[in-house]
Amino acid sequence: MAVYVKNAWYVAAWSSEVGRDLFKRRIMDEPIVFFRKNDGTPVALTDRCPHKLLPLSMGHLVGDNVQCGYHGLEFDCSGACTHVPGQEKIPATAKVHSYPLVERYDAIWIWMGDPAKADPDQIHKVLKFGEPGWAVVGGGYQNHKGNYLNIAENLTDPAHTTYVHLRTIGNPATSEVPVKVDQGPGYVVASRWSNNVPPPPIDKKNGNFAGNVDRCQYYNFFAPCVSRVDVVTMDAGQEHTEELMNKGLRVYSYKFLTPETETATHFFWMQIRNFRVDDVKLQEDLFAGLNQTYAEDNVIVTAVQREQDATGVLQQTWLAIDAAPSRVRKMIVDMATAEQA
Ligand code: FES
Ligand SMILES: [Fe+2]
Repeated sequence: MAVYVKNAWYVAAWSSEVGRDLFKRRIMDEPIVFFRKNDGTPVALTDRCPHKLLPLSMGHLVGDNVQCGYHGLEFDCSGACTHVPGQEKIPATAKVHSYPLVERYDAIWIWMGDPAKADPDQIHKVLKFGEPGWAVVGGGYQNHKGNYLNIAENLTDPAHTTYVHLRTIGNPATSEVPVKVDQGPGYVVASRWSNNVPPPPIDKKNGNFAGNVDRCQYYNFFAPCVSRVDVVTMDAGQEHTEELMNKGLRVYSYKFLTPETETATHFFWMQIRNFRVDDVKLQEDLFAGLNQTYAEDNVIVTAVQREQDATGVLQQTWLAIDAAPSRVRKMIVDMATAEQA
């Protein structure tokens, strides 16, 4: 059975994807149709008419109601049927689920579990989004053909970057630096600092460093679905406090994972940085470069998934580098198991 944590907020779509046209997306094996009401509020309903099961996304909007494209049943934003052509009585079974949604950080967040538990305060806090001095490269989306737990593992696995991302972000110099793993309630973080090293040319260009620097990557995973990789470059010899790190070059690289099916994942990404914030060319270059980087991950997770499906085995050999990924997997599986109990 699929392992999903349902009582959590997931990114369902970027705000720009949903408008007055019916937009469909499958999440945790459930077909969902999205649209906006005339006042702009987003709505998500089960994308399956209870009559003959035609996807409602093949129908169209009548005001704020969805009209099925087969026999014209109409559903309001709560999922209740409001009209059956040619018949007075509305059958009790003529209804669809209406999913709780919240729009925040240019994204539409969905709650797949018990609507009574949908508390918007639980939406993950995206650091520095919209704050002065910080720029956002957002709206990234890819469909990754792998189980989301494999992808969550990949995102807490610094060891792969040298080999998978040789042409983009890979840096052989860091592959021998040991990784430190920490864990707290609901999160795992793998980190590695390279201290007192010459700044790489790209950091020199962005940061005007006079001498050596301390560089760090923190691979944070907030279960069940948010990854934030922090990259810091700062003058060497300082304390690694939040305040001083923010005075150096700092990047927050977010990925929001939303299971589509057991073997496919919606991979939403955005990146937030504190340098060259008005540089439009850099903005475009970053978008293209990151898209390429994540496409490289997709090739890997797709091939891994294929072998896992063929063998029914997740992994045969365990290494020290699996410490953080294994903890992330266990944390999410434990959450799902507790929820199902
Ligand atoms: S299938 Fe939707 S109204 Fe018949
Ligand atoms: Fe990667």
